[in-house]
Amino acid sequence: MPSREILFAASILSADFTRLADHVREAEEAGAGFLHVDVMDGHFVPNITIGPLVVRALRPVTRLPLHVPLMIEQPERYIDAFCRAGADLVTVHVETCPHLHRTIQQIREAGALPAVTLNPATPLGSLDEVLPDVDTVLVMTVNPGFGGQELIPATLDKVRRLRRTIEERGLTCHVEVDGGVNAATIRSVADAGADVLVMGSAVFASPLGVRGAIEELRALLA
Ligand code: DX5
Repeated sequence: MPSREILFAASILSADFTRLADHVREAEEAGAGFLHVDVMDGHFVPNITIGPLVVRALRPVTRLPLHVPLMIEQPERYIDAFCRAGADLVTVHVETCPHLHRTIQQIREAGALPAVTLNPATPLGSLDEVLPDVDTVLVMTVNPGFGGQELIPATLDKVRRLRRTIEERGLTCHVEVDGGVNAATIRSVADAGADVLVMGSAVFASPLGVRGAIEELRALLA
């Protein structure tokens, strides 16, 4: 097991939206490190989720940093709105940013930490030029859009290669993994080099409840 600290990012995509504030507080009290608020537009990914309104509503509910992955076309149009709503870290897809360097700067200028993410079929090399400029690289281990999917095993090698590249280049960005992280896969994901684990259904749709689920997942990394 790696010595690095591993943080959990609770993804609200699988939370109970009839009592979202309660579920968020439960995740915070159970030790989640971040709140992961998926923004999807039904164009770049086949699902539609939430906008700045929900980020603004959640901001006063929790002290957790709000991570906002923009799984949308032309994310540069909405970076400022999500940052004003309270996003602490904004993630953009390399596949939707022809001017990625400029978009990363826009996130910083809007007051949030910049992160980049890539779909399972997108090569790591597409990030080579911007790795020094981002706080986090989010490796999608499922095709983005829905919670409860199976982790794509081949993506773990991509996580390993990313971790190796970061170490060889002496960089400090986090390696975050999103999709299909649960009791069955958490150890392999951590061993591959991830230090931030996004979990939606494993946390919010567990029969153990949020606290029980997070405690079980943490124990599996001990
Ligand atoms: C998937 C989303 C994830 C999702 C993870 O497209 O980006 O954030 O909530 O869900 P699980 O953990 O259930 O795979």
